[in-house]
Amino acid sequence: MASQLNIRNVPVDLREWIQREIQRTQQKQNEFLIGTLRQAAQLSYTLPLPFEPAGRPRLSGERLPFSFIDLFAGIGGFRIALEENGGKCVFSSEWDRYSQRTYREWFHEVPRGDITKIHPTEIPDHDILAAGFPCQPFSIAGVSKKNSLGKLHGFKCTTQGTLFFNIATIAQIKRPPVLLLENVKNLKSHDQGRTWQTICDTLDELEYWVFSNVIDAARWVPQHRERVYIVCFDKRVFRAEPAFEFPEPPKKQPALDEILESDPDPKYTLTSHLWSYLQEYAERHKEKGNGFGFGLADLRGVTRTLSARYYKDGSEILIPQRRKNPRRLTPRECQRLMGFPDDPGSYPIVVSDTQAYRQFGNAVVPKVAAEVVRSILPVLRGEWERRNKGCLLKCPLPELEQAAV
Ligand SMILES: C[S@@+](CC[C@H](N)C(=O)[O-])C[C@H]1O[C@@H](n2cnc3c(N)ncnc32)[C@H](O)[C@@H]1O
Repeated sequence: MASQLNIRNVPVDLREWIQREIQRTQQKQNEFLIGTLRQAAQLSYTLPLPFEPAGRPRLSGERLPFSFIDLFAGIGGFRIALEENGGKCVFSSEWDRYSQRTYREWFHEVPRGDITKIHPTEIPDHDILAAGFPCQPFSIAGVSKKNSLGKLHGFKCTTQGTLFFNIATIAQIKRPPVLLLENVKNLKSHDQGRTWQTICDTLDELEYWVFSNVIDAARWVPQHRERVYIVCFDKRVFRAEPAFEFPEPPKKQPALDEILESDPDPKYTLTSHLWSYLQEYAERHKEKGNGFGFGLADLRGVTRTLSARYYKDGSEILIPQRRKNPRRLTPRECQRLMGFPDDPGSYPIVVSDTQAYRQFGNAVVPKVAAEVVRSILPVLRGEWERRNKGCLLKCPLPELEQAAV
């Protein structure tokens, strides 16, 4: 194809728009048009689909094409859930280099780093903003650790606690039609509910319909893991409150022994020294009336919550063994316990055990997230069909982008 393109019969409104944008961005015409085409190429799957003669948009199969961004991506729990439902990732951000390594191996893409250093206008337009923002400033364990160290927590923790506002700024500027957020259950009660109130007020001020629910992953995976899911719909796109409902959990609960390895490496068995220490520690705390201690898992039941600190001693989930000390879970078992695909070919563990435990303990359960996405899609589809446009739902607001530059 020749490197020169001549376009004839450009409609007046488009010519005027190009003229205005060139003046606004102070670019040369050529520079502006190539930049615009580049952005379009990136988002080509969300551009208007060709119309059928009857004027109905053409859809491939039952799938609704949509784009998403993966913020605080970790190892891509949300990405798996959204891709499984037909989403296309257009941007990801994760600053931890070990998580980036796993992400690159699994999704063939290295996420951008620190989100606080990325201007929202650098982020491509998208239909769903997904973010499991850092939970340490709000989690019970994180709060008590920060308290004991005399550190600030929640929004007062300026390094991690305020990252929610980065999400809010991106939402304000990019106006994705849907926000899908996840955090620890304690987010709702943290600081006597004030943190939660601030989050809801902020989303409300941004003009989003807000739905939230605490979901325990225990019906999808053999792990008790309560997380708050927040799903928001842009009021400027969805004029009436959407009939969104969180998914019902499956009836049957999986059991721990379904995900255990048959012949785990002996290195995961606790040394007698550590096992004695854990038992004595638990005994001491029991005398004081505290519930803390190790958790010997019920093989036919579900485990406690896998935390990012599991690598330390693994005491929250110990697997009983016949005539041996208990053992901790292997990283591969943690992968299964979190409901990540059990496929070492496509999802290999490429980091140390310590990093793998941390990554799985931090992640969202993709099976639960996928179910939440499946509940969002009919709302998106309804709006998409109502508009009968066959194009992305996103309604960019140039004046906001302009204001933020
Ligand atoms: C709760 S985890 C989210 C995990 C993710 N949902 C998953 O499924 O793996 C939060 C992630 O945010 C990352 N993070 C924290 N601060 C960040 C920042 N300023 N920029 C980018 N990533 C950040 C952390 O490294 C961590 O992986």
